[in-house]
Amino acid sequence: MEEMGLFDAMYNCRAMRRLDTKPVPEDMLIKLVDAANQAPSGSNLQNGRWLIVRDATVKAELAALNRAGVEGYLAPQMDNIEPLSHQSVDRRRKMMDAVLWQVEHMHEIPALIIACMELGTKRDPMVLGRAGGSIWPGVQNLLLAARAMGLGAAPTTLALIDQDAVAKVLHLPETMGAICLIPVGYPLGRFGPVTRKPVEEILRFDTWS
Ligand SMILES: Cc1cc2nc3c(=O)[nH]c(=O)nc-3n(C[C@H](O)[C@H](O)[C@H](O)COP(=O)(O)O)c2cc1C
Repeated sequence: MEEMGLFDAMYNCRAMRRLDTKPVPEDMLIKLVDAANQAPSGSNLQNGRWLIVRDATVKAELAALNRAGVEGYLAPQMDNIEPLSHQSVDRRRKMMDAVLWQVEHMHEIPALIIACMELGTKRDPMVLGRAGGSIWPGVQNLLLAARAMGLGAAPTTLALIDQDAVAKVLHLPETMGAICLIPVGYPLGRFGPVTRKPVEEILRFDTWS
């Protein structure tokens, strides 16, 4: 399959949560992480570490953590969805439906890729917060690579709220934190363009006011 151009990938890289159970070949998964690993890191420390989880037991444990995280976050909003200036109630409900679909199916998704950081010191919320800047560029590289290769993916964090539980499931040393969980598989939904605020609204030249 011919890969798509960079700008096409950026403008069509929606969070794809509904994924097929069909396995993704290992060489494609490695290519995703290799693309992620080309991203920059602060002081070029290259402390990003990546786990590709395919084991059924580990996936089920991560799925349970995701369920707890999503239920804690979404449950209070479900009965009273507020529109945003750029997203109607209907669109927000569709997004939440997809998040809930993923709660029910996360354990069946072929690969859960976990973006981690070797922190160089004992994991704590402050250290983890600062470390994120050196792994999110890699996450975005991975998402774009997945889109270009026709794979569905989405950045998620709600499974990773309880870092001690995550570390136990993934056998992480105490100096490693898990920053983002990216479920990857062939898409069930349709790819399409992202909807973002117009550039005129979010850009100024030189000073803000
Ligand atoms: C920092 C961050 C955390 C996110 N956490 C979750 C999550 O826990 N679960 C989820 O389903 N999506 C999560 N997302 C995905 C966002 O909901 C998604 O990127 C956003 O709604 C835009 O979607 P679109 O690209 O399809 O327009 C997260 C995205 C980011 C950047």
